[in-house]
This record gives sequence, C-alpha cells and structure tokens, in this order.
Amino acid sequence: MYKDPTDPIAAAAEPMAERHGAAKDPTAPPPGAAADWTVPQDWQALTQEEHAVWDLLFARQQQALAGRAVGAFEQGLDLLRLSRPGIPDFDELNERLFARTGWTVVAVPGLVPDDVFFEHLRARRFPAGNFIRKRSQLDYLEEPDVFHDVFGHVPLLAHPEMADFMQALGELGLRAMGAGALHRLARLYWYTVEFGLAREAGDLRIYGAGIVSSFGESRFALESPEPNRPAFDLERVLRTTYRTDSFQESYFVIDGLDGLPRLLENGDLLALCAEAAKRPDVDPSLPPA
Ligand SMILES: [Fe+2]
Repeated sequence: MYKDPTDPIAAAAEPMAERHGAAKDPTAPPPGAAADWTVPQDWQALTQEEHAVWDLLFARQQQALAGRAVGAFEQGLDLLRLSRPGIPDFDELNERLFARTGWTVVAVPGLVPDDVFFEHLRARRFPAGNFIRKRSQLDYLEEPDVFHDVFGHVPLLAHPEMADFMQALGELGLRAMGAGALHRLARLYWYTVEFGLAREAGDLRIYGAGIVSSFGESRFALESPEPNRPAFDLERVLRTTYRTDSFQESYFVIDGLDGLPRLLENGDLLALCAEAAKRPDVDPSLPPA
C-alpha cells in the first residue's frame, strides 16, 4: 500500500476491474449483504462528518473541473441535483436517474467480484461504495468510495450514450471473463470509463471518472506536456497496459461522447481480443508511432 498525495484513484493498488475482483472472499457476499453483494444505503445513519467530507470534496472538485469536464458531466450534476449538500440519498437520486436512462445506483460494502460487478452493469445498476474517505485522507483511497463512484461515474450515467456504453461493457465483461480476456476488457474500461478524454467543439475535455474525481489528475490529464493523448483506437487500447501507481501516461481521446457506442462497432470485441493477443503489449509511455 502506498500514498500518492495528489491523486486518489490512480494511486489505488489495483486496476479498476481487478479491484472489483479483489474482494477478500469472492466466493460469498459479506455478512449483511444480499446475494448480489448489495446492502441498504442506510442514508439516515450517515453522520454530519461524512456529509461534510462529501461537501469538501465536491467543492474542491467543482473548482478543479471548471471548464475541463465534458458538457454532459455538468448537465448530469444538474439533472440529478448532485450539487445539493451532503452525500446523495440513493432513493432520491435513483428516481431522477432511472427516469432519464433506466440506470440505478446500488450500495455495496466495498469490493465486489468481477462477475458481480459486470452483472450489475449489464442490468443497468451501478454499484457504489457505501462509505466515504476520512477528512484526514482526502487523497488516499484503498477502494473506490461513494465520492468517486457517485460524483465520478453517476453524472454521465444520465447521458444516453454513456448509459448504453456502460451496459454494453457489462455484457462484454461477462463474455470476456468466459474467454480469458478480462484484462483486455479492463483496459477498455480503464481508458474510457475511468481515464477517457473527449474532444468537444475543438477542445479537449475530461469524461473519465478516475480523472473527474481526482484533484491532481483533472489538471494533469489536460494540461501537462508529459502524457500521450492519442486518438482512440480500439485495437491499440486492447494492447495498452496502464499505470495504477501514478497518473496515466496515455489518455485516449474520443470524438465527443456521442461517439461512444461506435467504439464497439469495430468488429466482434472478443475476436479483436484474440487478435490483440498475437501482438505485443503497448507501453503507454511510448508516443504513438
Ligand atoms: Fe471508477
């Protein structure tokens, strides 16, 4: 375990999809959780301090993101009324989210196994950690918490193209597991849902949840001269490894969020994974040829 003082998500010990599979005992849900690993959010039991930490993170991130996130992210925050003080009550949030795209947020106690995670996505349910980091550890996360999961992911689940894309990733995740290609699906998830950039009206914007929920990386991803920012290329993404111990070395850029569904139209994904397996992995620190 280690600490990156500026970035909570990229500092996490394991990649996202693998972290979901890193549940301490993936064979059974923890005591008190349902068979699908969900638990009641129990919003009434949240403390003033927990709500205050959310407010602190929210205000800090709003400032960090000014003019940097895709338009649909800001629209999602407004549509879902996420700017109201305190950790959102999932029942209220879900009324608005479900009416918009048929998605709901469900509470989970922490890490869930890959198959459980992808099954939730397939059913248009987003599992959100039912806990929040401590005030003394604003930039240190061992697991995605409610701020990363709800602030980072949920606004764009109100956007129809992202809503469909995430469901498709759930279906593909289950198929990839069966085909031994989970790590390639994890790369696709990583370089889109978590660390994707999009071009909007000529400007580079953030849409990846790992960036929008990170104070340090929201600036780094757009403005640092260090990382590569190649145009999204599915074949290349499936072969590109990624960093979990620092900011990313490559951010793949899509042409607006409305292009998300087309990212998966380039042939059968599992066939592409099989093709990618015949070629060497790509180091994300190397500039595209
Ligand atoms: Fe995430």
